[in-house]
Amino acid sequence: MAERRDTPWWERGVIYQIYPRSFQDSNGDGIGDLAGVIARLDYVAQLGVDAIWLSPIFPSPMADFGYDVADYCGIEPLFGDLATFDRLISEIHARGLKLLLDFVPNHSSDQHPWFIESRSSRDNPKRDWYIWRDAGADGGPPNNWISDFGGSSWEWDEATGQYYLHAFLKEQPDLNWRNPELRAAMSDVLRFWLDRGVDGFRIDVIWHMVKHEAFPDNPLNPAWTPEVRERDKLIQLHSTDQPEAHTISAEMRRLADSYGDRVLVGEIFLPNDRHAKWYGTPEQPQVHLPFNFQLIENPWDAASLRQIIADYEGSLPAFGWPNWVIGSHDAPRIAARIGEAQARVAAMLLLTLRGTPTLYQGDELGIGEVTIPPERMRDPQHLREPERGIGRDRSRTPMPWNDAPFAGFSTAEPWLPLNDDWRARNVAAQSADEHSMLRFYQKLLALRRSSPALTIGSFTLTDAEDEVLSYIRQAGDETLLIVLNLSSQARGFATPHGYGLGDTIASTLAKSDATTGTVAADEGVIFRLTGKH
Ligand code: NOJ
Repeated sequence: MAERRDTPWWERGVIYQIYPRSFQDSNGDGIGDLAGVIARLDYVAQLGVDAIWLSPIFPSPMADFGYDVADYCGIEPLFGDLATFDRLISEIHARGLKLLLDFVPNHSSDQHPWFIESRSSRDNPKRDWYIWRDAGADGGPPNNWISDFGGSSWEWDEATGQYYLHAFLKEQPDLNWRNPELRAAMSDVLRFWLDRGVDGFRIDVIWHMVKHEAFPDNPLNPAWTPEVRERDKLIQLHSTDQPEAHTISAEMRRLADSYGDRVLVGEIFLPNDRHAKWYGTPEQPQVHLPFNFQLIENPWDAASLRQIIADYEGSLPAFGWPNWVIGSHDAPRIAARIGEAQARVAAMLLLTLRGTPTLYQGDELGIGEVTIPPERMRDPQHLREPERGIGRDRSRTPMPWNDAPFAGFSTAEPWLPLNDDWRARNVAAQSADEHSMLRFYQKLLALRRSSPALTIGSFTLTDAEDEVLSYIRQAGDETLLIVLNLSSQARGFATPHGYGLGDTIASTLAKSDATTGTVAADEGVIFRLTGKH
């Protein structure tokens, strides 16, 4: 893939996800808030990222911890108020950072005034802002659709004698994007925040937004086995990724573009060919960055990664800019999944691949598995399907800042437990240790920022031994070779034909002997290459 020039900030930059309940509490209620985020902005700036994506901060009954929005144009009192938000955005901009909010268009809270009106009677003007259907022929739900959190996607409403659709919890009724008034109201929501200066949005489950007009049953998934989530019993053929959703995504893009340099990041889980369609076309672009979760979803071995990277790069439209994610508030922690040594290799991969990286809070400390006693588990997904082991609480534990009580996160017991090793694994301790994960991330982020090869350079996979992933990044007269050993044994590697091996610029290890042509167990290295410009 070729080198790019004249790139916008969101192509060069790194996005850092903040989960506001768990970043910093400023008022002693055990729950993070906006004033807390403000207090920690210097940390974010010093980390060396470019933009903050803040998970939802809007008024919410918190059935799904903010992804159930009761007012799209307000701030949840637990988190602060609009005046604090305005202060947050100006403090973010004062540090040269950008702010992306989390827009949740597929569903609102059942406590949103729109839904309260909608369910009040069949002839209420807002009835059609949500998706209401009569019972099926057998008196049960209108079709077989299954909620992402298990159980039917339909909830019976006794008062008005119809079912409403909810792709997630019953407390999260799906909005009807086929209704022009709802569409206009949602455009007003985007304008409200863009007018306040936000630099863009991460758009929650954007591919869910529109459903097949006739609501046919979804086909059975022949690959489903009982250990897998109930949702996956069916293929979500008719309940997601409808052509009309692409039209809406193009409308959102036009709106964002009318404000200048803004970015839309869409949450999308689809195979490459359908995923790539969310970029739209040069004439009718859609989201700038359809989130790419393949590093999270696939096995951690060199052969799989090579394949994923090559297939993804190959699927992008010519104008489409790639992006990569290794952690989020929904996924298991990367260090829990692959161990701390490989988590360093993952950090190097994330920050040297071609495309915008998204880094999730706490992964820069290498937080791994966290023990959460059953009585403290809060995630509704886990509580509905506890036997599956898919709970998200373990990725949502508070940021450990130092070894003071409650890790400096709060003066009270936090809403979720801290990581077990917080007394040693915290920001203060890692800042003081030059070989810590945090310092490693800072170093890689600084390197990336200063390197055209890493930010906008071309990308070429190179041949390597089993369990080694290697590639070249190149821009102008800067050529870098990245060699990642995914195994726990030393491995040899060859300098690509026509080049000479230059300095080691970074290693995942404190001390590297890799210029000898061998990468140590679990080692990742960035070399400068000489010759052949
Ligand atoms: C995706 C969000 O990341 C997740 O946390 C949420 O539960 C669902 N969308 C529903 O909004």
